[in-house]
Amino acid sequence: MTDQIHDHDARVLNDHYDALATGSGQSLVVRLRAAFRDAGRDPERLTLDEVAGIDQLHLGGRAASRSLLALGELLPDQRVLDVGCGTGGASRLLAEEAGCEVVGVDITRAFIEVAEWLSAATGLASRTRFLCADAARTPLPDRACDVIWCQHALMNMPDVAGVLAEWRRLLVPGGRVLLHEVVAGDNPEPLVLPVPWARTAATSHLQGREALQARLEEAGFVPVCVRDVTETALAWRQKHARRESGERSASAPLPGPTLIFGDEFVEMGRNLRDNLAAGRVRILEGVWHLA
Ligand SMILES: C[S@@+](CC[C@H](N)C(=O)[O-])C[C@H]1O[C@@H](n2cnc3c(N)ncnc32)[C@H](O)[C@@H]1O
Repeated sequence: MTDQIHDHDARVLNDHYDALATGSGQSLVVRLRAAFRDAGRDPERLTLDEVAGIDQLHLGGRAASRSLLALGELLPDQRVLDVGCGTGGASRLLAEEAGCEVVGVDITRAFIEVAEWLSAATGLASRTRFLCADAARTPLPDRACDVIWCQHALMNMPDVAGVLAEWRRLLVPGGRVLLHEVVAGDNPEPLVLPVPWARTAATSHLQGREALQARLEEAGFVPVCVRDVTETALAWRQKHARRESGERSASAPLPGPTLIFGDEFVEMGRNLRDNLAAGRVRILEGVWHLA
């Protein structure tokens, strides 16, 4: 694991996404391995279906990643940087389903440990690599990527301008950015917290659709296709909120997001549903290319 972590923002995000480590005294990877064993699975040999409950930390799960993949028309062997990769679900999906070579970068150390383990356990370690670093300061050389992929991560980043400058540095000429992002909606009421990316305002840096698009254009990214997918995301969240309310009654269920976020995830999911329904947040997916 390469370590390029800096400063206060990294601590705040690690505290948010790895909050249970302190209380339980066990690292996330240890807790998740034990949970797979409890569910009757070998934690060293898992399928992508079995790990989907803990490696899709965005609205819409794998269907949303496949939608962005279809929009972006990725080709085999393209070099993709998965920015804010979390536990690496999209990185593995792009390697498995599109044949891409993927590097995932994330500031949360515990997620990188889990991403490396899950890629090894699902047989995708040779096509996915993970770095623990700030997306604004990656240890990669200039023009290392054909595509930047980013799902539900910019809303955690206070320095979006720095991140976009880094994308410009990392992309080859004509390279593309594929985004699936949470943006502020038209309803100016404050976000109801907690949500999965924030228990307090300290880790939420939502910007409106127009502001995000303007920033992308200022950084030299030209829109190819941008869609509002809020309704699809809301329908998915409503379905999952109902399922999560009954999660504890299931017998030996496969690990899900409550193992990462704790029981508070049920409230986070409901608040996200309500924020979507009330227009406090919206969801975009789109493709931009480097001018
Ligand atoms: C909601 S999760 C989404 C994870 C993943 N993209 C997915 O969809 O499953 C947001 C991720 O962004 C990461 N992140 C936030 N700020 C970051 C930064 N400045 N550099 C790298 N990763 C960051 C967080 O650690 C977290 O894993």
